Amino acid sequence: MSEQTVDAAGILEWIRTKRDGGTMSPQEIEQLVAAYAQDQVPEYQMAAWTMAAFIRGLSWEEARALTLAMLRSGTRIPRSGSDKPRVDKHSTGGVGDKVSLVLAPLLASCGLEVPMISGRGLGFTGGTLDKLESVPGLTTELPLDRIVRIVQEVGCVIAAQSPELVPADRKLYALRDATATVESFPLIAASILSKKLAEQLDMLVLDVKWGTGALMRSLPQARQLARYLVQLAQRCHLPAVALVTNMNQPLGQKVGNSLEVIEALETLRAGGPPDLVQVVLHLGAELMVGVGMAPDHQQAQAQLRRALQSGQGYECFARMVRAQGGNLEAPLPVAPVHQLHSTQEGYLVQVETQVLGQVVVRLGGGRTKLGQKIDPSVGLEMRVRPGQWVHAGDPLLRVFAPEEKFHQVQDELLAAFRFGEVPPAKVPMITFAERGPSPLSPAQESGRGSP
Ligand code: URA
Repeated sequence: MSEQTVDAAGILEWIRTKRDGGTMSPQEIEQLVAAYAQDQVPEYQMAAWTMAAFIRGLSWEEARALTLAMLRSGTRIPRSGSDKPRVDKHSTGGVGDKVSLVLAPLLASCGLEVPMISGRGLGFTGGTLDKLESVPGLTTELPLDRIVRIVQEVGCVIAAQSPELVPADRKLYALRDATATVESFPLIAASILSKKLAEQLDMLVLDVKWGTGALMRSLPQARQLARYLVQLAQRCHLPAVALVTNMNQPLGQKVGNSLEVIEALETLRAGGPPDLVQVVLHLGAELMVGVGMAPDHQQAQAQLRRALQSGQGYECFARMVRAQGGNLEAPLPVAPVHQLHSTQEGYLVQVETQVLGQVVVRLGGGRTKLGQKIDPSVGLEMRVRPGQWVHAGDPLLRVFAPEEKFHQVQDELLAAFRFGEVPPAKVPMITFAERGPSPLSPAQESGRGSP
């Protein structure tokens, strides 16, 4: 990245342009982002620009320029020199979403390279890094050369964004978090895609979640975001597909850091919960077919299933854990267990999944502020599923927590389960696949939509 000098009048002009709904040139965006990454734009001016961009939106050209400028603010993960296709997955986040822990080693065991740069949990959805760090000794804070070495040796790594990768996004994401400017399609997409472009992928698959445990509660919103992400990725020459998947109940049965690693291990060893396996196989198959490792989805899924059942995926996971300093022989921390019983009778018609995620945060399993320490041992396990008939006294959840904390959250948990006299309509696990390009409405074409 070249040394940038921008004058105060230039920055003011760019803030004014966005404030008034104007359009900046790609060169101007590049200059602004490069200067910001080099601490030459004060945070208050970048905050003003970001709020203007949030409210006014960005054109496709601006969003593309922002993505590429953030990418150029740092280095990229070098290609290993192998001829293995390099792929990754990004999820918009959900409760109990442990797909990455299963999918990355499974794909590696099928001959793909997965340099997965992941995030920490903030709010009610957990973060893959926090989950994986429940394994005693394991670190996800790895220098770039070690990330590259592990990818070469094992085929996959799950690591934190190191300081040299997309530093502009690190700064801008923290600023957005503090200025209520996170929920904007162009800003979300530029942030996600700049990091994925730094991985130098052949293909990306996006898992855009919708429902009571997702950031997007409505299906149309999730579908719009999926379409936006795929289109921006393609405009940045990154082949991408997005699946829109159901998050109206936790994925799998377990929620909480250690518990999710345990469920991922069960899945890699013995099959695992059907909903989790279904999402893993569909996302994996998109990548296998997309990079030419399988002729069609059916054969891709069969190949992935074989890797799951033969233990090859587990073997890759164990090697990745060892390479990251973890000890799978040591027990994972699990808090004392308590049963939560239903006080009502009826069909389970809805689970307020977000509440379950929030309770795990309150038990200490997540953070409400950046940098907070978390307790990996706490969590929940679902004992019922929507559509099931439940009698009063039947178990709803197993709650892993110290006794006094369990008593504090019982009522909140009970209120998260809604019952009715008729069973709810069945919601499919995978609702759409967005492969782009598809015609956009004028509002979407301007990229000015926010979720
Ligand atoms: N994840 C990211 O990496 N960035 C966003 O802006 C939102 C989710």
